[in-house]
Amino acid sequence: MRKVTKAVFPVAGMGSRFLPATKASPKEMMPIVDKPLIQYAVEEAVAAGIRDMVFITGRNKRAIEDHFDKAYEVESELAARGKSELLELVRNIIPKSVNCIYIRQPEPLGLGHAVLCAQPAVNDEVFAVILADDLIDGDPPALRQMTEVFERHQSPVLAVQQIPREQTRQYGVVKTEPVAGNIERVMGIVEKPKPEAAPSTLAVVGRYILTPRIFHHLAQLKPGAGSEIQLTDAIEALLAEDRVLAHRFNGTRYDCGSKLGYLQATVAYGRKHPEIGDAFERFLKTL
Ligand code: UTP
Repeated sequence: MRKVTKAVFPVAGMGSRFLPATKASPKEMMPIVDKPLIQYAVEEAVAAGIRDMVFITGRNKRAIEDHFDKAYEVESELAARGKSELLELVRNIIPKSVNCIYIRQPEPLGLGHAVLCAQPAVNDEVFAVILADDLIDGDPPALRQMTEVFERHQSPVLAVQQIPREQTRQYGVVKTEPVAGNIERVMGIVEKPKPEAAPSTLAVVGRYILTPRIFHHLAQLKPGAGSEIQLTDAIEALLAEDRVLAHRFNGTRYDCGSKLGYLQATVAYGRKHPEIGDAFERFLKTL
């Protein structure tokens, strides 16, 4: 029985919707309260039992590498000032057992191309893809829900959710048939369809469990929607030869690649933050 032990984090996008904030640092380093988006994503992978983290980086990659690396200066400064709690916080950003692998995507040619860049680190294993700008507040965490589905069915799994029809242009949209409970079989998938042409209003969001066969399809692709190499197009090719499942996860998703989604996540996570939650709630009431 195959298990998911690797996660790929494509973090090489332009982040153009968040300029100028993303001019010199990746959008995945933007914080929700006190943690960058990429840290939430890595914690979700750890909670799903994953130990090998593969980051596909682009320009401005340094900040992400540094975040998961040892920070000698910060640590010795905190130690010298006797700030032991903060010292523990920066030392334990990820468990010691986690491996971080960094691969450079030479040009932002699209999400599909970013995933293809992970092939040398993934080889012939099943792997997860997490888009850190889709922050999902789930219990159990969304990827954990999906690895359970994968272990039961041994087929690729896409996280899906209902969206308003007028937003289909922002997503990959699936056509499905019911399997059981919140699991459906994907019968077709289209990237960014017009509302009137969309096969449904069930959209793929930033969590995937994929089999290594996807690399074969990605390598054959020509640029699709938006002149980018689309992961959706490779999944469509996979459908012809394998069963692919759509999972309606339990949890709230925040599209932190958009300004509105980012602010919504900040408010939701701020309200339940153990240190400032109550004070923040009181502040919100004064608005
Ligand atoms: P988005 O579609 O959100 O694009 O990418 P983007 O470039 O990051 O942001 P905008 O639309 O310009 O504001 C989805 C995910 O795929 C990654 C991004 O980092 C993001 O996590 N990505 C996208 C890459 O790693 N490489 C690419 O070439 C494109």
